[in-house]
Amino acid sequence: MAKQTWKPGNMLYPLPAVMVSVSDGKGRDNILTVAWAGTVCTNPPMVSISVRPERYSYSMIRETGEFVINLTTEKLAYAADYCGVRSGRDVDKFEKMKLTREKADFVKAPMIGESPVSIECRVKEVLELGSHHMFLAEVLAVHAEEAYMDDKNKFHLNRARPLVYSHGEYMGLGKSIGTFGYSVKKRQKST
Ligand SMILES: Cc1cc2nc3c(=O)[nH]c(=O)nc-3n(C[C@H](O)[C@H](O)[C@H](O)COP(=O)(O)O)c2cc1C
Repeated sequence: MAKQTWKPGNMLYPLPAVMVSVSDGKGRDNILTVAWAGTVCTNPPMVSISVRPERYSYSMIRETGEFVINLTTEKLAYAADYCGVRSGRDVDKFEKMKLTREKADFVKAPMIGESPVSIECRVKEVLELGSHHMFLAEVLAVHAEEAYMDDKNKFHLNRARPLVYSHGEYMGLGKSIGTFGYSVKKRQKST
């Protein structure tokens, strides 16, 4: 194997492509697709999204300090792409993509009904990094779709067929390889 060396750039893939819903608090809302998103802390639960200031959604997040991260699925791929290439300045993306606005508990931004998981977030810090400003946010609540819960109330996110974004392409997940910690788990003795 021989690796080529490239100039510095972003090559951390695959990533989730999430649909971030926002509101200006005065009746206007919007959705933008974000791949530069991450989990940054377990306790307190915190996430980050990095957004270019020229995005229509940027000032809504900056002014209200609130947003909702909506996870995407294979079924939502078309809408996720559309919300990432059209601006809310020109089109109502909820209407155009026939997405359902659902009221959140803590923030004014609506959740996307068709998403299997919606995460309400409140901004704690803004890091003006360069092309993108990173919003570091506290998780206020997680809403998980009941259709993916089993009879013991265990949530099976992967049954929702999550969408990933990898080097310019949208993809589904492949087959399951193992569960957390499987590399060190003792094998069950066969009888
Ligand atoms: C897969 C994908 C990932 C994207 N990730 C980001 C991102 O992380 N940050 C960002 O500012 N824009 C990102 N964009 C671009 C915005 O979603 C896009 O410019 C959108 O039209 C902005 O909407 P708005 O002007 O209505 O806010 C992404 C677009 C796509 C298709």
